[in-house]
Amino acid sequence: MELKNKVAVVTGVSKGLGLEIVKLLLEKGVIVAGWGRTQPHFTHPHFHFFSCDVADESQVDQAYRDTVASLGKDIRILVNNAGFGVAGSLESMSYTTKRLIPAMKAADEGHILNVASIAGLNGVANFAGYVGTKHAVRGISHSLYMELRDFGIKVSTVYPGSIQTHFFDDIPGMEAHEHMMRPEDVAQTVVQTLETHPNYFVVDVECRPLRPKGKK
Ligand SMILES: NC(=O)c1ccc[n+]([C@@H]2O[C@H](COP(=O)([O-])OP(=O)(O)OC[C@H]3O[C@@H](n4cnc5c(N)ncnc54)[C@H](OP(=O)(O)O)[C@@H]3O)[C@@H](O)[C@H]2O)c1
Repeated sequence: MELKNKVAVVTGVSKGLGLEIVKLLLEKGVIVAGWGRTQPHFTHPHFHFFSCDVADESQVDQAYRDTVASLGKDIRILVNNAGFGVAGSLESMSYTTKRLIPAMKAADEGHILNVASIAGLNGVANFAGYVGTKHAVRGISHSLYMELRDFGIKVSTVYPGSIQTHFFDDIPGMEAHEHMMRPEDVAQTVVQTLETHPNYFVVDVECRPLRPKGKK
């Protein structure tokens, strides 16, 4: 999709991967509605923040109404970045996705990009809940793409390994470090996935740090 002047919703934009995705989309000329609990510390004429806990359906409804009132109904891109963390819930993806599908269908064009994790492909000891949620993201995303492809809507899923973000702040015994991926690199993969030819569709992208423990 040609990205310039399209409207995108990105969830979870205060920091980490979501913030980098927002910045890169803005560089590409996208008009971005950020839906999140906390407002990021930056301003841009094409960035609009809508306060919303994406795990709360009524707040998602309100954010959708406010976004349509400010930016119109023609929202072509949804990046489901927040809400699948250790403390997140899967419902958030359904709430945001179900709100935005009708406008994409009306335009006969849209792209939903779900941020999963390599925990959506493998098992991880002591993370069964998170792993289960991320595996579910994969199954839901694949089913959705089969349902939506005939309406011109792509559904892609990105499965990153460890990223240097605030994700680990609340996980005892784990800390972000320099050998993890940089969030701006994962954001670039997200934007490249969105930027493809209308009849070219990337289903799944797995990305990992090359040397996760540094040079041996
Ligand atoms: N970091 C990794 O190693 C890694 C690896 C694979 C996949 N991922 C995935 O990448 C995505 C982004 O995580 P990150 O690494 O960027 O973590 P992060 O630095 O902790 O950022 C998470 C963002 O999501 C927001 N958020 C969380 N729950 C939310 C909710 N219910 N409603 C609205 N916003 C919410 C947070 O807002 P607040 O500031 O208000 O908390 C924050 O802006 C997540 O889906 C995560 O599972 C991360």
